[in-house]
Amino acid sequence: MQNSEEDITIKEYLQILKDSSPYDFSEYSDNSIYRRIHKVMRDYRLSLNELVAKTKSDQEFVEQIVEAVTVNTTELFRDPSVWVYILQKLLPQFKNNPNINIWHAGCSSGQEVYSNLILLDHLGLLKQSTVYATDISQKVLDQAKKGVYKYRFNLNYIENFNQVLGVNEPKVDFSKYFDINESEDRIVVKDFLRTLPKFMKHDLVQEKLPFYNKFDIIFCRNVLIYFNSGLQSRIIQRFHDNLFPGGSMILGTHEAITGFFKTKFVKNGPVYLKSNVFHFKY
Ligand SMILES: C[S@@+](CC[C@H](N)C(=O)[O-])C[C@H]1O[C@@H](n2cnc3c(N)ncnc32)[C@H](O)[C@@H]1O
Repeated sequence: MQNSEEDITIKEYLQILKDSSPYDFSEYSDNSIYRRIHKVMRDYRLSLNELVAKTKSDQEFVEQIVEAVTVNTTELFRDPSVWVYILQKLLPQFKNNPNINIWHAGCSSGQEVYSNLILLDHLGLLKQSTVYATDISQKVLDQAKKGVYKYRFNLNYIENFNQVLGVNEPKVDFSKYFDINESEDRIVVKDFLRTLPKFMKHDLVQEKLPFYNKFDIIFCRNVLIYFNSGLQSRIIQRFHDNLFPGGSMILGTHEAITGFFKTKFVKNGPVYLKSNVFHFKY
């Protein structure tokens, strides 16, 4: 626990970071961002004053701060029951749509994006789908584009895959979508999937979006949990604005919309459907 004097100092640092770089972490939830800035200071052996000086003078270092303060944990078919719902209930509704626009906001190293593409392929919906995937961190986007993951560390990917796609006959084999190289300890996404998503760097805190499309589905799982409630509300409002009527928003299993937004979405299983009852600008 930090004392309040330190809290104020980190708060001031976040303001300096905001003024001297494109990044604004001032509305990330206090405990997590403060802990991470302290870790940066320890790892780089910098006092707060030295951190301020380096932040103002070294843009590459600022990018390292972005990597250090963001949490990139993800996995293939994370929370398998959510993906079973997406496979059985959500995606089949799009089978007569000529186009399906999907945005993964905060996609990390791409496992969630490939999970979705696998289900679209399984349902024969890949051709009409356009999948955008964005993250604030260039490092994770580069990993996502490569589609190469550790094998032994991620054996649960195969378990999750089988839980989602092994529920129906005929069973689908993991090797349809991935090459496994045990000797090099790698799982590699096959090219026909890997080349499909449009990965882009984008900061959800910024108003401007990198595309003009509206979306049928927006995934933003395990991202809002790191933001304070004011920032969460602004981003959910933006998702609402950028969904087609009846479009779906999918959050993490520990995230929920509260208060006013309950009138703007209807919850079906793990999916929030856009309702058009009210329109409110933040
Ligand atoms: C815990 S991961 C979640 C990954 C994936 N959605 C999942 O649920 O498995 C959170 C991701 O959000 C990204 N992120 C954090 N702040 C962001 C922001 N302001 N704009 C865009 N992405 C952000 C992080 O870089 C990280 O990759």
